[in-house]
Amino acid sequence: MNQTLLTNIHQLINVRQQPMLLRGKELSHLPILEDAWLLIVNGRIADFGSMKDCPEGTNIVDLQGASVMPCWCDSHTHLVFATSREEEFVDKIKGMTYADIAAKGGGILNSARRLALTTEEDLYTSAKQRLIEIIRLGTGAVEIKSGYGLSVDAEIKMLRVIKKLKETSPIPIKATFLGAHTYPTLFKEDHEGYIDQILLDMLPIIDREQLADYIDVFCEDGFFSPDETKRICEAGKQIGLKPKIHANQLNLSGGVQTGVAVGALSVDHLETMDEATIQLLASSNTIGTLLPTAAYFLRMPFQLARQLIDAGTAIALASDYNPGSSPSGNMNMVVSMSCIQMKMLPEEAINAATLNGAYAMEVEKEVGSITIGKRANLIITKPIPSVAYIPYAFGSNLIDKVLINGEVFK
Ligand code: NIG
Ligand code: FE
Repeated sequence: MNQTLLTNIHQLINVRQQPMLLRGKELSHLPILEDAWLLIVNGRIADFGSMKDCPEGTNIVDLQGASVMPCWCDSHTHLVFATSREEEFVDKIKGMTYADIAAKGGGILNSARRLALTTEEDLYTSAKQRLIEIIRLGTGAVEIKSGYGLSVDAEIKMLRVIKKLKETSPIPIKATFLGAHTYPTLFKEDHEGYIDQILLDMLPIIDREQLADYIDVFCEDGFFSPDETKRICEAGKQIGLKPKIHANQLNLSGGVQTGVAVGALSVDHLETMDEATIQLLASSNTIGTLLPTAAYFLRMPFQLARQLIDAGTAIALASDYNPGSSPSGNMNMVVSMSCIQMKMLPEEAINAATLNGAYAMEVEKEVGSITIGKRANLIITKPIPSVAYIPYAFGSNLIDKVLINGEVFK
C-alpha cells in the first residue's frame, strides 16, 4: 500500500461528501476545511479532517500552511493541432475580424491544411507536450476535440492521436468528434456531400474503433445551421456519442436552442445571448460552458456569467485551448478573467472550473472535488491568504506542486 499524509493544510478547498452539479446560487458555496490534513492511499483520496484530530501516519508531508484544492477540470479544448497561427493574430491586430479570416481560407481551414501534412506521430508528440504543459498549470482532467481534419483520413488521424493520449495520459481524457467544425473547401457549395461523409464514412469508423465519447458541431452563421447541427447530433447519438456543441459564439445562431433540443451535455461559448436564450438554458439540464479566454483573444464582449448564474444555469469554465481563438490552456487565467471581467465570485469560478467542469465531461466520479474515493489530482498552492487571492493575483504562479494520482507531477 502506497500512502501519503499531507498535514498542516491552511485551507482544504472544495471538500464535498456528496458532490452534485451546481447551478444558480449553489455555485457560490465553496466548502472549505481550515487547518486540515488529507490522506492519500494508492493515488486516491482516502480520508481528510481537521488538524486537531490528525491521525498518526508514515510518509508525512508537512505543507506548512499551503492550501490544497482539486485540479482544474478543463472540459473544452482543441489541443491536437499541427502549428500555431500567430500570423492571423497579427492580421487581427491590423483590423481583420475572425469571420474575415475564415472567409478567405484562414482560421480552421488553415489549421486543416497544415494538419493534413503532419503525421500521426508528430501530432501526438506536439499534443503530448501541450498536455504536459497544462498538467503543470494544474489541469487534472481534460476534454480534447478533433475538427482540424475535415476529411475522413484526417479526422480519424486526429481521433487516433487523442485515443493514444488517453492510453498514455496520467489524467482522465475525454474525446470529442468535431468533424462538423467547418465545411472543407471541397464541399463549400455541397453541404449535403460533407454531411454524408460525416454520417456515412466517419461515424462508422469512430464506432468501430471506439474513437470518441462526444459529438460536437460548430453551430454558427456561415458554419453549420441549427438543422444541420441537429441531424449530425442525432446521428452521433445513434452510436452513443452525446452532443456537446459550440453555440452562440459569434451570433444568436440558434445553437443553444438546438443543443437543448438534442439533450446536449453542454453548450459552449455563449458570447452572444439574449434573455429568452438565457432562460431556456437555465431551465434545461444542459450545462453552459463559458470560454472567457476565447472572448478575450477575439476581443469580443465577455459572456454574461452573472445573468446566466442568476437565472439558475449550471455553468462550467474551460480554456478552449486552440491555435485560433485561445492559444492558452491556462485555467488559472480563465478563472481570473471570469472574476475580473465577468464578475463571477471567486467561489463560483473555482466551482465552475473544477466540479462543474468535471460534470461537463462526465468525470465527476473521478475528479473535481475533495471527496473520499476520488483521484488525488490536487493543486498544492504556495502560501495564500484566502481563495479570493487565487483569481486576484492574476499574474502570479500560485502553484507550488501538482499531484496526479497522488504523485508529484514533474
Ligand atoms: O472554439 N469556434 C470554433 N472553434 C474554435 C476555434 C477554432 C479555430 O479558430 O481554430 C473555438 O473558438
Ligand atoms: Fe472550441
